Amino acid sequence: MSAWFRRSVSLLLLSYSASTALAFCECGYSVNSTSGPDHSVFTELQETDFLHISDLTDDIGWRPQVYKISREQARGSYGKNAQLENVLANPLKDKNSWAGPSVNDSDAGLQLWARSQPEDDTIGMGEVASERTDMWYGSFRVGMKMSAVPGTCGAFFWFRNNTQEIDMEFLSKQFNETSNPINLVLQSPASQAAGFDAQYTPNFDVYPLPFNPTEGFHEYRFDWLPGRVSFYADGQWLRDMTLETPDSPGHLVLNHWSNGDPLWSAGPPAEDAVMTVSYVKAYFNSSDPDRISKYDKRCDNGDRDKVCQIPDQITAPDPAGANGNETARTYFFTQDKEHTPHQILYDAPDNPFYSGAGGRQSVISSSFSAAAVACILVLVSLVAL
Ligand SMILES: *[C@@H]1O[C@H](CO)[C@@H](O)[C@H](O)[C@H]1NC(C)=O
Ligand SMILES: *[C@@H]1O[C@H](CO)[C@@H](O)[C@H](O)[C@H]1NC(C)=O
Ligand SMILES: *[C@@H]1O[C@H](CO)[C@@H](O)[C@H](O)[C@H]1NC(C)=O
Ligand SMILES: *[C@@H]1O[C@H](CO)[C@@H](O)[C@H](O)[C@H]1NC(C)=O
Ligand SMILES: *[C@@H]1O[C@H](CO)[C@@H](O)[C@H](O)[C@H]1NC(C)=O
Ligand SMILES: *[C@@H]1O[C@H](CO)[C@@H](O)[C@H](O)[C@H]1NC(C)=O
Repeated sequence: MSAWFRRSVSLLLLSYSASTALAFCECGYSVNSTSGPDHSVFTELQETDFLHISDLTDDIGWRPQVYKISREQARGSYGKNAQLENVLANPLKDKNSWAGPSVNDSDAGLQLWARSQPEDDTIGMGEVASERTDMWYGSFRVGMKMSAVPGTCGAFFWFRNNTQEIDMEFLSKQFNETSNPINLVLQSPASQAAGFDAQYTPNFDVYPLPFNPTEGFHEYRFDWLPGRVSFYADGQWLRDMTLETPDSPGHLVLNHWSNGDPLWSAGPPAEDAVMTVSYVKAYFNSSDPDRISKYDKRCDNGDRDKVCQIPDQITAPDPAGANGNETARTYFFTQDKEHTPHQILYDAPDNPFYSGAGGRQSVISSSFSAAAVACILVLVSLVAL
């Protein structure tokens, strides 16, 4: 074997290791630095940038929900009617920006409408649910702006069933100049015992926010760990709940509704009311045996160097004001090259920021190019021999 051939082979190995070393976050994503005592690592991610999504029929990982329930089932004066027409994409006009006019002139983002005119004793509402149902502990974050029209409930929640649910809920009737609460709720066996009313359990808190959720976009977040759920707003810790926390897999839901129940949503709202979502970022573990075994194979010691820390969003991700294009631009691993190796990724064909190069395509194309380099080197060496 010629020296040249040996050199080619070592070059090939070098180029191969260089191309695999290019991928970051092979061992997942952490809340807090892995060098600190207090951190949690999650193996999966799903990020959705609704400021730049114009077509909800693309494979974006979220499904608008369609269902109708009676007033008895809804436990209110009206039933609920989840309809496609109440779930609308309203991206920014300038796809390369993070602020500025939207396609339809209101706040840019995913719109969930709660309607004012009941039909057949039901009130129209908007709901989306994540396609993945294997979310089993994680850090879940949403950028959103609430409706100021009294009479609706807007919610960001993780759901398994009626005794395993984590909710961040806004009642628009509760907002005024001096009052800006968020309702933090865990549905648990205790709330089932209380007639599915978590208000009578320790897993309920009406937390006064230091800002008005109807005046701008803010990040709402919950970190769900074994035995503990911690709630945050704009990166500020609000509250922990530790009693009967969920322990089984489920999925994420966003909805905006009214059923006329004077003790909760109230309504219907006097005019159509909209809740607008600018992004959802979920970092979580999977209950899917296939995903677990793939992670364990690629990451046998949970190598700390291959874990990426999730940045804390500590300011409001708001597009308003002179610096909107900066303040609304938040960090996405899916928009950073090579930061999502082996993740399940969804299509965002319209998004110029989306890093195809860090996503599914690139993992395939970088191993393809490594293979191509190998072939070429081998061919060249054979010719040289
Ligand atoms: C992150 O660090 C903060 C401050 O030490 C701590 O309160 C919190 O529980 C940590 N979060 C996780 C998910 O470990
Ligand atoms: C998530 O899974 C990883 C890998 O198995 C594990 O190290 C970590 O402790 C899990 N996180 C939680 C909160 O269970
Ligand atoms: C934008 O306007 C068009 C035309 O009026 C309408 O069909 C569409 O539903 C609107 N979308 C949103 C998000 O309002
Ligand atoms: C907003 O920032 C992006 C880069 O993040 C830039 O491409 C775009 O031109 C900016 N838009 C405006 C209106 O300044
Ligand atoms: C919710 O799911 C858990 C875990 O699977 C189960 O133990 C519990 O009985 C379920 N609750 C209801 C109301 O179905
Ligand atoms: C503001 O709302 C709270 C309840 O959320 C209520 O107790 C208070 O009286 C209201 N204040 C005004 C000025 O309407």
